This record gives sequence, structure tokens and C-alpha cells, in this order.
Amino acid sequence: MKKLIALALVAILAFSAGCSGSSGGKGVTKDGVTTYRVGVSIYKFDDNFMTLYRNEIQSYFKSLETATVKYQVNVQDAKNDMAEQANQVDSFLAQGVDVLIINLVQSSSEATITAKAKNAKVPVVYINREPMEANAMDYESACYVGADAKQSGTYQGEIIAELPNKGDADGDGTVRYVMIMGDPENVDAQYRTEYSVKALVDKGIAVEELFKQRGDWDQAKGQELAASALAQFGASVDVVFCNNDGMALGAAQAIASANRTVGKDIYLVGVDALDEVVEMVKNGTMTGTVLNDHIGQSHTAVDAAIKYINSQTNDKRIMVNYQKVVA
Ligand code: GAL
Repeated sequence: MKKLIALALVAILAFSAGCSGSSGGKGVTKDGVTTYRVGVSIYKFDDNFMTLYRNEIQSYFKSLETATVKYQVNVQDAKNDMAEQANQVDSFLAQGVDVLIINLVQSSSEATITAKAKNAKVPVVYINREPMEANAMDYESACYVGADAKQSGTYQGEIIAELPNKGDADGDGTVRYVMIMGDPENVDAQYRTEYSVKALVDKGIAVEELFKQRGDWDQAKGQELAASALAQFGASVDVVFCNNDGMALGAAQAIASANRTVGKDIYLVGVDALDEVVEMVKNGTMTGTVLNDHIGQSHTAVDAAIKYINSQTNDKRIMVNYQKVVA
């Protein structure tokens, strides 16, 4: 008999937890404490910048907790696989999360993810990879938090153009450059590539592209590509532009191995302002970088998610500024 009562109690408890979970946006209240569930999917964990970003999402949520409000934040690794990410979103929605924060694997798949969220009436905050389609985020409770990739590219170009010799390391009148790109589907990679060079051209500086290849934001690939470009084009390379600091760290190793010296016979710029790169900028082994403000962006994304939880609205696109980092 006792066993039966216990089983019935378990069933009732499980049922009531299920009910409050499925109400979406209302959290689960127990003993006067409301817990909101947040589903976060990051395009891949093995990415320097997104690691800082996702850790800050978690610690910022924690810092906003009170005696009566808690956040249960479930952060998943999409392993650079769009199908995997779509499954993660399905299971977050089945669990009845209150809000989603999504760093898309492919920004072109945004419509599919938004349709899932809209159908389940769960708000979604996109981060880092901006959905660029004309009709993007077709849902009143969907928004994007990020930074203007054109600005980061422009700052990279300006860092070079503001050097006394305007980046023309060998003084032959033309800035010859190597471009190491992130993944080309990503607007950050496209605009940083385009606008870094545009900033030089706009200042009337003659440029020539020697080499351009994708390194997918990855340090080892950055090193490989820079080594191959330096082997191919030798002393004529004046500047190595990298779409991020991860790849610039790799390029810095390749530059040292090729017996070239940053600041003397070659220049090197990245984006993100990883701590170790900021140190290198200070000691001159990197020409400059651009702060990709993971703290500002993660806090803004979390604030937007909490506004949705509290039935408030957000602007469709919320932008955080980049900043130049030079010695
Ligand atoms: C960029 C960042 C890169 C990489 C990429 C992932 O904004 O600069 O380092 O994290 O996002 O989408």
C-alpha cells in the first residue's frame, strides 16, 4: 500500500513538473523560487572566441540570479554540424525551455530554426553569426545580438594605414598582402576580408592581393596557410590580414619560422583581442587587433533573453561596437 501511494505521488509530481515546464516563458516555480530554463547552442566549442563568449553567458546569468529567480542554462556543442544543432533545438523545445540563445552553425539555416521556435512560441536570440537573408528572423520574438563586421574590417585596414609607412614594409610603393579568412559563409569573414582592404584603398594606398584562403578561424590552419604564403611569395609579403586572432596566432608562428620580424619587415593583424594577442600587440610581435567584445555581446544577449522571458520586446538587431587595439 505504502509503495502504491509513493508511486502515485511520484506520478503526480512528474505530471505537475511537466505542466509548468510546457507553459513556456513562465519558468517553473517551487517553494517560492522560479527557475527559467535557457537552451544555448554554440556552433562549436572548439573556437577560442566562442569559448570566452559562452563562459561569459553562463557567469552573467549566474550573476543575475536572486533569492527567488534562478536560471538553468543548458549549453550544447553543435560540433559545427547544422543537423546536430537542429536536433538540439528540437530537444530544447520538447523540454519546454523559456528562451533559446543560438550561435548558428550556418546562418543560412536561420529560417528553419526560427520556424521551430515560432511554432513552439519560444523566443530566440541569435548571436555571433548574423542572419543576412532579406526576410531574416520572421518572428516577433526573434532578434540578433552581434557586432558590425564591416567595422572590424575597417579597423584592421586603418591599423595598417596608420603606420608611418602605411604598411608598405619593403617600400616598393604597393602594399602586398596575404588574406587568411574564416569560413566564407560567415558574414564576419566576408566583411572583414572586404573592408580591411577597402580601408587602405579608400586612403589612396596601392594594394595587391598575393594570396587568399580560408582557415576557418583555426590556429593550426592559420599557421599552415601563412607558412605556405610566405614560402610562395617570400619578401614581397608586406601584410598578413587574418579574419581572427586564432588564425593570427598561427600566422605569427609561421612568420617567426620564416625569419621575418613583425613591425620591421612585415605586419600582422587579427580580430578578437584574445588576451595573449593583446600581450603580443604590447610587445610588438603583432601589429594590432580589434576588440570583439565578448563581454558586451554576451551580456547584451542575456539581457535580451531575459526581456523576452519577462514578456518585453527587443529591437531586431542589437549591435555592440568593436574597438581598435594597438600598442
Ligand atoms: C567571429 C570571431 C571568430 C570566430 C567566429 C565564429 O566573430 O572573430 O574568432 O569565433 O566569430 O563565428
